[in-house]
Amino acid sequence: MELKGRLWIFFFYVFAVLFYISNADLSYSVPEEMGPGSIVGNIAKDLGLEAGKLFTRKARIDTEESYQHYCDIDLKTGNFVIRERIDREELCAEKVSCLLKFELVLESPLELHRISLLIQDVNDNSPVFQKDIIKLEIRESADKGARYRLNEAHDTDIGKNMVEQYILQNNEHFVLSVRDDTDGSKNVELVLDKELDREKEHDLNVVMIAVDGGNPQRSGSAIIHVTVLDANDNAPVFDQAFYKASLPEDSALDTLVVTVSATDADEGVNGAVTYEFSRISERAKKVFSLNSQTGEIKVIGLLDFENNSKYEMRIDAKDGYGLSSDSKLMIEITDMNDNAPVIYLKSLTNPIPENLSPGAEVGIINVQDRDSETNGQVRCSIQQHVPFKLVPSIKNYYSLVTTGQLDRELVSDYNITITATDEGSPPLSSSKTVQLSVADINDNPPVFEEQSYSAYVTENNKPGSTLCSVTARDPDWRQNGTVIYSLLPGEVNGAPVSSYLSVNGDTGVIHAVRTFDYEQFRSFKVHVMARDNGSPPLSSNVTVSVFISDVNDNSPQILYPAPEGNSFMTELVPKAAHGGSLVSKVIAVDADSGQNAWLSYHIVKSTDPGLFTIGLNSGEIRTQRDISESDSMKQNLIVSVKDNGQPSLSATCSMYLLISDNLAEVPELKDISYDEKNSKLTSYLIIALVSVSTFFLTFIIIILGVRFCRRRKPRLLFDGAVAIPSAYLPPNYADVDGTGTLRSAYNYDAYLTTGSRTSDFNFVSSYNDNTLPADQTLRKSPSDFAGVFGDCDSSPEVGAFLCLCHS
Ligand SMILES: *[C@@H]1O[C@H](CO)[C@@H](O)[C@H](O)[C@H]1NC(C)=O
Ligand SMILES: *[C@@H]1O[C@H](CO)[C@@H](O)[C@H](O)[C@H]1NC(C)=O
Ligand SMILES: *[C@@H]1O[C@H](CO)[C@@H](O)[C@H](O)[C@H]1NC(C)=O
Repeated sequence: MELKGRLWIFFFYVFAVLFYISNADLSYSVPEEMGPGSIVGNIAKDLGLEAGKLFTRKARIDTEESYQHYCDIDLKTGNFVIRERIDREELCAEKVSCLLKFELVLESPLELHRISLLIQDVNDNSPVFQKDIIKLEIRESADKGARYRLNEAHDTDIGKNMVEQYILQNNEHFVLSVRDDTDGSKNVELVLDKELDREKEHDLNVVMIAVDGGNPQRSGSAIIHVTVLDANDNAPVFDQAFYKASLPEDSALDTLVVTVSATDADEGVNGAVTYEFSRISERAKKVFSLNSQTGEIKVIGLLDFENNSKYEMRIDAKDGYGLSSDSKLMIEITDMNDNAPVIYLKSLTNPIPENLSPGAEVGIINVQDRDSETNGQVRCSIQQHVPFKLVPSIKNYYSLVTTGQLDRELVSDYNITITATDEGSPPLSSSKTVQLSVADINDNPPVFEEQSYSAYVTENNKPGSTLCSVTARDPDWRQNGTVIYSLLPGEVNGAPVSSYLSVNGDTGVIHAVRTFDYEQFRSFKVHVMARDNGSPPLSSNVTVSVFISDVNDNSPQILYPAPEGNSFMTELVPKAAHGGSLVSKVIAVDADSGQNAWLSYHIVKSTDPGLFTIGLNSGEIRTQRDISESDSMKQNLIVSVKDNGQPSLSATCSMYLLISDNLAEVPELKDISYDEKNSKLTSYLIIALVSVSTFFLTFIIIILGVRFCRRRKPRLLFDGAVAIPSAYLPPNYADVDGTGTLRSAYNYDAYLTTGSRTSDFNFVSSYNDNTLPADQTLRKSPSDFAGVFGDCDSSPEVGAFLCLCHS
């Protein structure tokens, strides 16, 4: 009987261990009571992992139960080590196999390995009797073979470390009968072997020793105190051999669990039954009470399904003289949904870079609910509109993954509330807020506020003056959003842009480096780049157009007649000229533009104020009336040319006019400006001298002129804008006929200087009959002019320095 029971226990034990082992990735077994630091095994080796990777993969030991502190993993070596002394009895009490279950969690990728640790029993507890003295009252008339039930000794160890043997000492009357019960307990009975005689001894003490099977052996003892009595026939009898009760874990204190009842056929003291717990665990003792008189079992402590779901105990019923019987009571605790799920944040990448691809894992969450069945089934979710979701992973683990592209510039922080709800009724839930921030990536180039910039500056600006400022914005963080401005290399008029402008790298303010001259160029473009400080940096560029505006800084320049003092020019006016005839024209230009180059002509002084007028805008000199004999032959005009700038600038020139039909009549040219005060003699002398020398010079010039004119074709008139004798007129001047003389029949040729919008140089290349009766203009000029105005012929009749030009 005993052997059979033990074999059964053994097989159960082996089966249980095998079951757990086969269900785990790793299983170890250690004796209890091992010191802290003891090595259980090497996880890394047993799982085929590199020990060096354990740290980077954030390996850790996890468990749902409260015994996590017992063991840990050494990340350096991969050893599984004991951290705290393990007492099997405390942890597993009577459980046949004391198995601790751990989980090894590895991240990236998330991996879970189950580890089971079997705690082997060590014989560290001695058998203990419930009472040191067992009181027994036996009739002297009792027959040999009468049996008396004794409470067995209890050894919290298991297996062969449990009580194995009972021994009686100091005794000649009794033997022990030990039977194994079906539930693994032992039925110990004292069997009367030799009749008692109250008259010889009316009480006796027998020592009972319980010995366990451990090595070394441990034992415990109790004294059986037998009082020899006259008569007590019947032991109490329970109405049920086995009581079973079930109550919810949230039962209030004082709840009646069950009432046991036993009856004794005897009368009086012999039939008065009292109840007591005989075999009961320490835990159960704290939770249940037994009323010794009524047999009511009540709740006196807090029940917790999660800690203990089943209690088993034996109840003794005893009559007044110690005859007893026992019954078994099993109390099952039913689960109530009294534990809300608990959310554990097992790992979190924080902050997360904003360029994380959708679906990337940023955290691992573990949810536990201590309730069982549906009360412990948990659903986990995120109820907000955030680009994150929970993906169920192994067991109670969830991965927190992104569902879309993140953008720190839009949302830089997330408070993600994770809600876990179990399926009990009513369901319990809990939530946890995870704070996540998004780290910047340099993903935005600086953007200029405007598509292009224009700066307006008047010429003659001071070097260093501010032209304008450009601004670019970059929403990235810190240096990734710090904008630095610079000029892109380029050229303006063949010189590097940096010699014209500079840009302040921090503020984007653009300064002129030099003074600009409108007459040199009117506008130019540069490119400004805005670059951020990220790595790699991002940049964009913008065009800045600089427009230079004109200032009236150039006075009119008179091309014809040449300014006073330089040369000497005289116009011939035929004596027969009628009023309104065009006599000459003052030609002037102004390098400025617009109003600043709008020229007006005035006669400021003249020999005969009533004889000539000048076109205000055209500069044409005309006779005002018919020439009469009485008019002085030599006429002198001083013409002032003014521009329209603010303030206006002006230039003056002198115009010498000779009223004569014949050039031969002309007195010495040099004297033309002087009053005729010289004596006739001196005049003749001078004429003679001049004639001789002019003849000689004319001869030479004719020869040179012929050769020169043959070799040199008439060429286009403009090599440069300013050196040309031409009338510079603002665009709308050509058609002005306010003065009534220059009509459209007038033959103007327009020439444009290179690259200029407004400086149209119009000048007369042919004269009409209408204007001068003799289509001749008398000039005294450097021979350069001859080539400019057309074919040049020698004119012997006129003399030296004169060049006759015609269309
Ligand atoms: C997240 O919570 C913290 C503190 O609880 C708060 O300071 C922060 O403003 C919250 N952020 C968002 C985006 O709601
Ligand atoms: C700037 O962006 C880079 C990646 O482009 C990132 O590594 C860095 O941390 C960012 N700097 C800051 C201050 O956020
Ligand atoms: C300037 O910007 C334009 C487009 O905005 C780009 O095509 C060009 O390459 C940029 N130039 C430089 C020098 O960065």
